[in-house]
Amino acid sequence: MLIRSVIILIMGVNSSSSDYDWSFKHLNYLVVHNPPFDYVFRGPNGTFTSYGSSHNVAIWLAAKLKYKYTFVLINQTLIDKYGTHEAAFYQLINDEDVDGIATNFYLTLNRIQRMDYTTHHGWVDGFRLVVPRLGEESRLFAFIGPFERTVWLLVFVSVFVVIIVMTLFAMIYRQHPWKATEVAENKIETELRTGINTKEPVTRNVLFNYLGAHTIYVVNIMTNQGSREASNRYSFRIVAGFWVLGAMVLVNSYTGIVISSLTTTKTKPSIDSLEDVAASTVTKILLRHDTSIGEQILIATSGVFKALGDQARRNPENIVGDAFKVTEKLETGRYAFPFIQTFAISFVASQFKKDQRCRFKMSKKLPLATGYYSWLFKKNSLYTNAHSRALADLWETGLAHFWVYKLFPPTVPRADQCFVESTNQVSRRAPIQLSDLTSAFLILGIGTGLAVLSFLTELLYSRFRLCTFPLG
Ligand SMILES: *[C@@H]1O[C@H](CO)[C@@H](O)[C@H](O)[C@H]1NC(C)=O
Ligand SMILES: *[C@@H]1O[C@H](CO)[C@@H](O)[C@H](O)[C@H]1NC(C)=O
Repeated sequence: MLIRSVIILIMGVNSSSSDYDWSFKHLNYLVVHNPPFDYVFRGPNGTFTSYGSSHNVAIWLAAKLKYKYTFVLINQTLIDKYGTHEAAFYQLINDEDVDGIATNFYLTLNRIQRMDYTTHHGWVDGFRLVVPRLGEESRLFAFIGPFERTVWLLVFVSVFVVIIVMTLFAMIYRQHPWKATEVAENKIETELRTGINTKEPVTRNVLFNYLGAHTIYVVNIMTNQGSREASNRYSFRIVAGFWVLGAMVLVNSYTGIVISSLTTTKTKPSIDSLEDVAASTVTKILLRHDTSIGEQILIATSGVFKALGDQARRNPENIVGDAFKVTEKLETGRYAFPFIQTFAISFVASQFKKDQRCRFKMSKKLPLATGYYSWLFKKNSLYTNAHSRALADLWETGLAHFWVYKLFPPTVPRADQCFVESTNQVSRRAPIQLSDLTSAFLILGIGTGLAVLSFLTELLYSRFRLCTFPLG
């Protein structure tokens, strides 16, 4: 890979002759850690390793314009103070020994005023957000989902009303036997059905038996199991009839929604714009104060930029100054980061390579002008024009893209599925998975637990009674 790149480098240089002979010159280039374009890793005692596409450009330019070059580190004290990019500008402007920065920069008014820039760009890119890909909504409470809270409340209220009305009717008929035979039949049936043979006070016992019988009836209808209402009184039949009708509508709409929610994947609404980030309660904005877009957001006095700037200022730890901290924070999956598109692609893909799943995605293009990125030199530097022409030549060769996208394996590994919109896969044919039915098993588990608990209580209670009132 390296050899191929060197061969291409030499071919590129040899293919065009140059008018410059600066063979006596020696330029010092600051190296900037700016993935996916360039990587700089510090070792002990001021040593470092660095590589990347902009390095290749710097090497190419030096070869074309026939000068010698050295890569030097940016002063770490300045990085901590101003952020990586601003530290590089500071050194380029103030440090006699520094002649250039080995990477491209977006041109802002402030930067143009302080430094020279090549009139031809070294890179072109748009802006996008890197955002965490939000997972599917939890199915744990899928069985609550179909109805909103007030509906559930009404369902429970109506269940209780129906049970109480029925029990009330039954008790009143029992107390006022104006048709003695029917009531007796009714009474006997209910009492037989529920098995009354203890010696407790009769009315209380009967009340509980009526309540129990009617609750079972109402619940049976609700759960589509069906059962016979004990009484043949008209009032009972009317209540039961309307209950059956009402329950039919409720139960059918409920099952319909549960079924459709089991057969479709429902993802949480994803973040696709700066407005979405401003509105999100889960995903926070992450800013780099030394990048052009970070600066724009932080100095804005109106609109969504100001909203985001305020949000970031409320959490100052979300405003950072170098690429290492950006990666570290982004990996937590809690932040949205606006930066150039190539960064977004590379970050999403590199995280896919790491985790083997798409934890992140790229937003739509942000509504900002496409950025033209130039090389910066000291104000009134005699190198600027020569480098502009050289960069134009380089751009024509297409090597700049080649270096970024192809020659550099760590940059963009294949992760195509991370760049497809998830809305395409709304309905699925796959079998229903365990995760879909968590709620059902949860209910079963709770029910079994409660049953065992009540069984144990009963057991203890009867033991207790046997001990306290021994037989005879
Ligand atoms: C760093 O420099 C110190 C003193 O100059 C030296 O003793 C030490 O071995 C160096 N460390 C490495 C890893 O080169
Ligand atoms: C880095 O910058 C600080 C502040 O300007 C300065 O005191 C320090 O000597 C610099 N360090 C190096 C290694 O140049």
